[in-house]
Amino acid sequence: MVSRISTVDPEGFFSTEPWCLGIIGLGYVGLPLLVTASQRGLRTVGFDTSGAHVAKLVGGSSSIDDVSNDSLQAALTSGSEISTDPDTLRQADAIFVCVPSPLGRNRQPDLSFIESAAAIIGRNARPGQLVSLESTTYPGTTNEHLVPAVEDAGLEIDTDVWVAYSPERVSPGDPMKTGDIPKIVGGVTPRSTEVAVAAYRRIVSSVHAVSSARAAEMAKLLENTYRAVNIGLINEMAQLADALDIDIWEVIEAADTKPFGFEAFWPGPGVGGHCIPLDPQYLAWRAREANFSTRFIDLTEQVNSQMPRYSATRIARLLNHQGQATNGAEILVIGIAYKRNVADDRESASLQVIEELVEAGAKIAVMDPHVGAERIREQGLTPIESEDDLSGFDIAVILTDHDRIDYKRIADQVPVVFDTRGVYRRIGLERSNVTAL
Ligand SMILES: NC(=O)c1ccc[n+]([C@@H]2O[C@H](COP(=O)([O-])OP(=O)(O)OC[C@H]3O[C@@H](n4cnc5c(N)ncnc54)[C@H](O)[C@@H]3O)[C@@H](O)[C@H]2O)c1
Repeated sequence: MVSRISTVDPEGFFSTEPWCLGIIGLGYVGLPLLVTASQRGLRTVGFDTSGAHVAKLVGGSSSIDDVSNDSLQAALTSGSEISTDPDTLRQADAIFVCVPSPLGRNRQPDLSFIESAAAIIGRNARPGQLVSLESTTYPGTTNEHLVPAVEDAGLEIDTDVWVAYSPERVSPGDPMKTGDIPKIVGGVTPRSTEVAVAAYRRIVSSVHAVSSARAAEMAKLLENTYRAVNIGLINEMAQLADALDIDIWEVIEAADTKPFGFEAFWPGPGVGGHCIPLDPQYLAWRAREANFSTRFIDLTEQVNSQMPRYSATRIARLLNHQGQATNGAEILVIGIAYKRNVADDRESASLQVIEELVEAGAKIAVMDPHVGAERIREQGLTPIESEDDLSGFDIAVILTDHDRIDYKRIADQVPVVFDTRGVYRRIGLERSNVTAL
């Protein structure tokens, strides 16, 4: 039987020291959060189910580009605990859930990680805790999965515990980091919102409260759907510009001089990563349950998902102009990370373009200083580690425009360059052998 505590004043409760934050899931979202909270003077306990991952972190070796080994080690030295033992979460005044939310085989939401985290909370929650879900998910998840988990543990919302949703909006590789990005917070009750706002104020600079967890869940999906739809629009415009023999990059730059009413989005070989291709599908799935058809999302998915094939067609056309077939062509791919300056190749459009080219008989080598040679080999591909001798390649294809690439030396050595990211234009290095998407 759980002992009850009387309703707690959120401000009073969160002024008790030392205040402890528990984090479930220490990946791209959870690890920066742990380090940020530690830098802001909180005690932190991180729990992750992956023993290998935890061992690496405990050894002071960060798994992601945006968290340096030094900052992780500083967090550990100042008392942060990282472990595979869920019991450690009982020390926490607040538990933030940062586990994956992928899609299943039929592109339906896969809530298995959130459900397993909810079960862990059910077993370890204690009176006086705030539980906040940060994983991206469809509206209703917090109410439908986290609330029952704490209630089944005999805890009463608002009397014993508070439950909220607060989406993570960090963008790996972006200079704006966790802690500086405003946080949206919505509780399952007004009191839960109040408590969660007080908690997040200790970690981030700015908090925007909404009236419910469901509104916060939908706000996150709106942000990423907005991005996906606009990328879809510009990818369609890029194909149209090619058909009309107009330079899309020049067109976007011109439109972007308008001081209001236009935000520039750029075309590319497709959308990748853990968020933009997936998140709109969470919303579409919930919409279908409500018998509502999300036409923009469906159209966007259609346009963006065929960009890798379209890019492969453009590469074949460029080879053709040189009197070459894709079959047997030596192709140097620059970048298999899903975006610039990160090491993450999950859902990367580059891998889909490569698949198309391999199917057509091309021989592929890959240069990606962020992803690294070992991971490139794991993908069954040949790594190229420097720009020193590229003379054997028929074409270089820029699929991810990392800063650490010497684009000049590539264009100097390889006869044809296909630039899906417009990087040569951006760095003022336009050449007659470089064609942009
Ligand atoms: N990666 C991003 O840029 C980003 C940005 C904003 C939001 N998000 C969202 O944040 C969530 C987490 O994404 P991520 O990129 O950090 O994932 P990730 O795969 O990098 O990390 C997730 C971690 O959770 C651990 N884990 C899985 N199940 C667990 C469990 N039951 N208990 C404890 N640990 C568990 C895994 O071992 C892994 O270390 C997702 O919902 C994602 O959509 C991600």
